Amino acid sequence: MSAEIIDGKSLALKIKEELKKDVQELKNKGINPCLAVILVGDNKASQKYVSFKEKTCKELEIQSLVFKFDENIDETSLLNLIDELNNDPNVNGILVQLPLPKHLNQNIILEKINPLKDVDGFTPFCLGRLLNDNPLFIPCTPKGVIRMLDEYKIPLEGKQAVVIGRSVIVGKPLSLLLLKRNATVTICHSKTFNLPEITKNADILCVAVGKENFINSNMIKEGAVIIDIGINVTKSGKVVGDVNFDEVRQKASYITPVPGGVGPMTIAMLMENTIYAAKLQQRKS
Ligand code: GUN
Repeated sequence: MSAEIIDGKSLALKIKEELKKDVQELKNKGINPCLAVILVGDNKASQKYVSFKEKTCKELEIQSLVFKFDENIDETSLLNLIDELNNDPNVNGILVQLPLPKHLNQNIILEKINPLKDVDGFTPFCLGRLLNDNPLFIPCTPKGVIRMLDEYKIPLEGKQAVVIGRSVIVGKPLSLLLLKRNATVTICHSKTFNLPEITKNADILCVAVGKENFINSNMIKEGAVIIDIGINVTKSGKVVGDVNFDEVRQKASYITPVPGGVGPMTIAMLMENTIYAAKLQQRKS
């Protein structure tokens, strides 16, 4: 058996085509959606992600403002900028690219973002709303994963879903979304004992670890659905996920590739959240 590939790239293209129409509808009403992105330091991966976000905004005719700062910027300057963006009626979404340099307190900075503009869904307000089954903005990567599972009509109710990774960006919100869909969710992390025993029980296995070849075919159940959220660059410069794709696809029923799986969906969901922010603020003002 060879798994069906979950084609995130094509699905993201389809979603972006729909979103383009939404943007034009808003523009016809005189609303120009605008996303502000803050990038601090010279992390190469972050620079790449931000340039993808900028490029996608352009495709959809969403205005993007990118604020790039030197590694050494002080916290007060960043907080002042966020304050300005919060108060700027032309800015609908505000995103601070993570990770931030160590001297900056990520919690203080994220908490400064007006939750109505928090298109990443990382403020305590948005995370609390998600925990309370009443989401405002859902973090983009977990939202994209659920959208992919839905597109391929993969049932979640009653299934054993295992999430490896407990980050605020991916693991925790994804676990909540799977739980909301009535999956039985197990969260694993770097201190988990007997990981293969747990992963072998998973009907749906979501991996967000950041280690090449972390999951091999001995760790999965026959017919499992494999969602690879890792993005790693090999010594030879190739982009790969956390899953040994060639080996695991022989045993799985569905699998996401890297690249072309979860990554493009994350950006599509960011665009969706930005358009939603523009609609939301239109209603509030
Ligand atoms: N760093 C890694 N993933 C993300 C993301 O989805 N949003 C932001 N802001 N930073 C990230």
